[in-house]
Amino acid sequence: MTQRKPAILVARAIFPNVLDRLRAHLNVSSNQDDVPWTPEALCAALQGKAGILTTGAERVDRALLAACPELRIAANMAVGYNNFDLEAMTERGVVATNTPDVLTETTADFGFALMMATARRMPESEHYLRAGHWKRWRYDMFAGAEVHGSTLGILGMGRIGQGIARRGALGFGMKVIYHNRSRLDAATEAACGATYVSKAELLQQADHLVLVLPYSAQNHHAIGAPELAQMKPTATLTNIARGGIVDDAALAVALRERRIAAAGLDVFEGEPQINPELLTVPNVVLTPHIASATLPTRQAMADLAADNLIAYLTMGRAITPLNSPVGA
Ligand code: GLV
Repeated sequence: MTQRKPAILVARAIFPNVLDRLRAHLNVSSNQDDVPWTPEALCAALQGKAGILTTGAERVDRALLAACPELRIAANMAVGYNNFDLEAMTERGVVATNTPDVLTETTADFGFALMMATARRMPESEHYLRAGHWKRWRYDMFAGAEVHGSTLGILGMGRIGQGIARRGALGFGMKVIYHNRSRLDAATEAACGATYVSKAELLQQADHLVLVLPYSAQNHHAIGAPELAQMKPTATLTNIARGGIVDDAALAVALRERRIAAAGLDVFEGEPQINPELLTVPNVVLTPHIASATLPTRQAMADLAADNLIAYLTMGRAITPLNSPVGA
């Protein structure tokens, strides 16, 4: 007798080749129409499923877990996992996985590019040109902030932070300073040319501050009005980490009042809603959470999430687990 394949739900549209790969091992329900599900609709679709492939937007919390007792694994197609209540998942014996490493360099590329576009005012000047305002050259037209040789500050020094540090130190001759929950070992610091400083020193000394720390309740509004007030008026702030780490309302005020020069934001509090104030200040570059968005990298992320589901549900061992629930 053939064994029944475990049932899983793919919560959002995904590469068709990934669905095929999943279907070879699992009984797959999918959402290829990318219907936006309410938490209730997600819960209904998850009934009887042993696994779910999430994208970072779907919350796996106590309420969902209580209503879906057959769930055994949630595989996030993202390196960040603040959509998971990891404690509740561990308590209920549900394995959580994410997609580390496969997106590191791509995301570091984007963080660096967003910082540069912000410093050199690329989108702002492009809008000016497209609007037909460019009539003649002027000596100070869209004069931005120097990147090479300046001080790059990194808050959160995991794999992506280290990738940005290497780009700054090795490619652009920047002085790189960082602050992190824990200090890196000397060899890693040397490899990415970075010096550990306090958070206050980071805020005060950075010409370009890039945020790459994970979101947690402790990090909520890690950059708010008091922190922005410590930054140089000529500094830029780039956030590719998570919405909620920056107080977007306080940032909009700081940008409008030129208390800092400019910001580049790929993530927002309450995204895809954007604080309307941010939409009206000129000195901010806004992108729709695309830091890992190249097709090869998104394919690798989807493959890893799928492989986690297949490996755990068919062989009992996840590839990149975030927890190890007793009995799971
Ligand atoms: C994207 O934000 C991710 O966490 O992978």
